[in-house]
Amino acid sequence: MGDTMISLRHVAKRFPGTRTPAVRDLSLDVDRGETVVLVGPSGCGKTTTMKMINRLIEPTSGTIEVDGTDVMAQDPVRLRRGMGYVIQSIGLMPHRTVAQNIATVPRLEGWDDARIDRRVRELAATLRLDEELLDRYPAELSGGQRQRVGVARALAVDPPVMLMDEPFAAVDPIVRAVLQDQFLDIQRRLRKTIVFVTHDIDEAIKMADRIAILNLGGVLEQHAPPEEILREPANAFVEEFVGAERGLKRLALIKVSEIDVDEGPVVSPEDDAEKARALIRDGGFGWVSVLEDGELLGWVDEAMLEGKARVSDATPRRFSAYVTAEDSLRQALDSIVTSRTNVAVVVTEGQRYRGILTLERVSREIVS
Ligand SMILES: Nc1ncnc2c1ncn2[C@@H]1O[C@H](COP(=O)(O)OP(=O)(O)O)[C@@H](O)[C@H]1O
Ligand SMILES: [Mg+2]
Repeated sequence: MGDTMISLRHVAKRFPGTRTPAVRDLSLDVDRGETVVLVGPSGCGKTTTMKMINRLIEPTSGTIEVDGTDVMAQDPVRLRRGMGYVIQSIGLMPHRTVAQNIATVPRLEGWDDARIDRRVRELAATLRLDEELLDRYPAELSGGQRQRVGVARALAVDPPVMLMDEPFAAVDPIVRAVLQDQFLDIQRRLRKTIVFVTHDIDEAIKMADRIAILNLGGVLEQHAPPEEILREPANAFVEEFVGAERGLKRLALIKVSEIDVDEGPVVSPEDDAEKARALIRDGGFGWVSVLEDGELLGWVDEAMLEGKARVSDATPRRFSAYVTAEDSLRQALDSIVTSRTNVAVVVTEGQRYRGILTLERVSREIVS
């Protein structure tokens, strides 16, 4: 990180015949391999900003560098071919097949047929587009499939930079979530430098390494990782834009592995029942976990130990739900409030016991 791929310096755009500038004075950096999501209300200058990066719109003043070179010093056609561009309306050519659409830029670049064919199949696999779709026309696809073709086309010559303007806004919420997950998965492997525009803060939180929150006139209100924006909104505008449930949204971004879990009351099967009873009374939970060589067998309470000499004489009851280090604190919270024991039990694979999370412990991570 810290290796800047796209840099905007005091960029302004004033459209002819308009009173106020679409973008007043925007400075913003995007690191190599990072996804920056521009988010803000309608008309705040997101699309204008994005189009200035590939020179579909020319800035009135200021400088934009991509990979260290001023975009104004580059041939606009070459510049655009070197960046993937995905838009909401997709812009597939209706009289060309899916394969021909995906092959648009490779063909302009003069690739031979065999290489194009290989690349198209490779992209179809990456985007999980069935190969039988390749000979169809865009009108014969679902909205989600068309969007995948749009992404495949943008990735065709493997550009280091991707510009995505509300790419998933036109599909229904379920398909959108699938496309988002799929794109995150692709990005984890390809590590493109991505500028992603949306008006949906939840999409921004999900997709971004850093979010840039814009106000009208392209005013940058905050540029920070999602977790930081949720923890510490820079001002009232950001707080308002982030909306309700800020604390809960933030819990979804923190993994159980990132916080210390409580040890919780534990005994082993060989322990005296008396020791277990004392822990049950003093532990404040009304039960105790039973661990055998670090493996969680379940929990016992006083009633289950009634008349028993050793813990092993009782049959532990299994916890109804577990969380792992990879789960989020939001999932842990859900586990806490739905469990009879009022805690989330943290285990590793193979039921190795790590500890417990209580409501009180998770609440400490919610800053409001
Ligand atoms: N070609 C244009 N001519 C005049 N005004 C424009 C043009 N394109 C955009 N605008 C204006 O610039 C502002 C920013 O627009 P835009 O960048 O499309 O916003 P967003 O993508 O954030 O919704 C808006 O007020 C819009 O009306
Ligand atoms: Mg827009």
